[in-house]
This record gives sequence, structure tokens and C-alpha cells, in this order.
Amino acid sequence: MEDIENIAKKIVEDGKGILAADESTNTIKKRFDSINVVSTENTRCQYREILFSSKNISQFISGVILFEETFFQKNKQGKPLTEILENVNCFSGIKVDQGLEQFQDSPDESFTKGIETLNERLKLFVENGAKFTKWRAVINIAENIPTIECIKKNAELLAEYALISQKNNLVPIVEPEVIMEGKHNLKKCYEITKKTLQEVFNCLKNKNINLRGMLVKPNTIVPGNESGEKLDIKKSAVKTLQCLKETVPREVPGILFLSGGLSSLNATMILNEINKLEKTPWKLSFSYGRALQEHALKEWIGKNENKGTTQKIFLHRAKMNSMACLGKWEKSLEQDM
Ligand code: 13P
Repeated sequence: MEDIENIAKKIVEDGKGILAADESTNTIKKRFDSINVVSTENTRCQYREILFSSKNISQFISGVILFEETFFQKNKQGKPLTEILENVNCFSGIKVDQGLEQFQDSPDESFTKGIETLNERLKLFVENGAKFTKWRAVINIAENIPTIECIKKNAELLAEYALISQKNNLVPIVEPEVIMEGKHNLKKCYEITKKTLQEVFNCLKNKNINLRGMLVKPNTIVPGNESGEKLDIKKSAVKTLQCLKETVPREVPGILFLSGGLSSLNATMILNEINKLEKTPWKLSFSYGRALQEHALKEWIGKNENKGTTQKIFLHRAKMNSMACLGKWEKSLEQDM
């Protein structure tokens, strides 16, 4: 059995990142609604198969996070989607949290569900070839929130999740997402993200998590989307790196950002800018959902005859982000499709 430290290292090999294709049934329905496609087991399978079978996907994508339904889905020929990934040396990962629940009596705060049953649920995924897991915690910023109690609760759950994953020989991807929606400025995003990551790593250390056998998936530091503050890529990159240097231990092999509602281009540019700043102890890569799929989804619009162009557009985005992992992305590359 391959050791989790090796898997974690391979996931963040030079120029590689993760495709987050683990949208829950509700979320993927919203994405499909935007292109007027009815979300059924069948259409979800068709769409995801198109992405996963893109030629040479593993040049840029080392792993894919799957939703439970997809993990056990087979294509029309009866081939499991996980086998398509395995055949091209892409790791299959699984989203194991079970969504959000209101935190105490604070209507705009949440904690992540699913910890009680996690250990038993993991067995089936391990038997079927999963190599890593993901657990997402959500931290909202608004007046008087987040409370420290909510940050601590989510940090404890993330650490417990990481412990259970590692006990099952799975690499945990620890995702504390500070949400971009809101009126807060860049400085506030930095402060809350720093506090959150500090609490998360305190809890991970208290539980003796093997830091070399895990990955972290944070947000980048950006102003809230209703703040009126313009996104400044360079400033965001500098603040993001500062925040990570203050909170993420050097043993952690990689940091994979979420895109969180940034446009595809902004997500690529911030990643590129961060990687241009200085040499870091960890790899800095991507684990994007929307920022990898947005354009491909619009091309597909539910039609199988668009398969080739959908894959081309998807691979182009993956390649641009791969270049950004190396700090070698340039605007002119966007044209070479
Ligand atoms: P986005 O990149 O669309 O934020 O999705 C990443 C993810 O996995 C959120 O949990």
C-alpha cells in the first residue's frame, strides 16, 4: 500500500494540481441550470466522463475530488469513472463531509456535518481505490461574525477528520474556506483567514496529525465581493503568501487553493503571482472547481457533439493553471488554444 506521504507529494508534483469535481447534487444542479441542462444521474455522469477522459489530463491534473455518486458511477460501456482516472495515473479522491449545519444560534455561521459516521464510511472508498479525502469547513465574514467559537468548532472537526482519514491511509485535504461573499475588505479577509488557519494547525498538532501526509486547501486573500474594493492581483498574492508563511508549517508538502467564486482568469493570475514571489517550503497549486470548469461547462451545454471542444477548453484551463503553479503563466498564453 502506498504511503500517504508519497501520495501527498505526488499530488503536488511540479506543475500539477487537483480538479474539484465533487459538487453535491444540489450544487451541480445549479451549474447545469445555468446552461439549461437537466441534472440527472445520467447527465452528471456524461459531463464528468467528458472531463476525466480529456487526453493527457494527467499532465496537469494529479487528482480529482469526486462526489459519492460519481465515485461509484460507470460510463455507458460499464467502465467505472475512477478506472478512467486510474488508467491515466490520476488519483481519485472523495468528498467526505456531509454539508453544513447552523452553528448554535448564529444563523449565518455553520459547522460541517458527518464526523460521527466518517470512519465507517471511509472503508468502502478505500476498498475501491480512493487515495485522498476532502472536508470543507465554511467561515463567513459579516458584522460580528465569525465568532471564535465557530472557528474553533470547525478547526476541531477538520483535525478529527484528518486523523480519521490518516488512520485509513488516506491523505486528508483540509479545507477551511473563508467565504468571499460579503462587504469586508482585503485586510479583514487576511485577519480572519490567519486566525482560522492558526486554529486549524493548532488542532492538527494537538491530534498529532502527520503534517507530511496531508494537504491544505485555503482561500486566497481577496476583498469581499461587495466591499467596493477592487481586486489587486499583486496585493492579494503578497497578502496570501504572508498569511501562509505565518500559519502553515513547512512540513506540509502542498497548499492547493480553492477558487471560491473568483473568475477563471483571476484564479490563474493570483496563483501565478504568488508563485513568482519567492521560493516557499511548500508547493503552491490549485484545487479548483469553478475556475477549471466554468468555460468547459458553457461549451458542453449538454451536447455530446461538443465533447471535443469541451475537452480542449478544459485542458487549456488546466494547462494555464499548471503554468501558474510554476509562476510561468503569461497573458499571451491564453491565446494559444
Ligand atoms: P471552487 O474552486 O469552485 O471554489 O471549488 C473548490 C471546492 O472544492 C470547494 O469545496
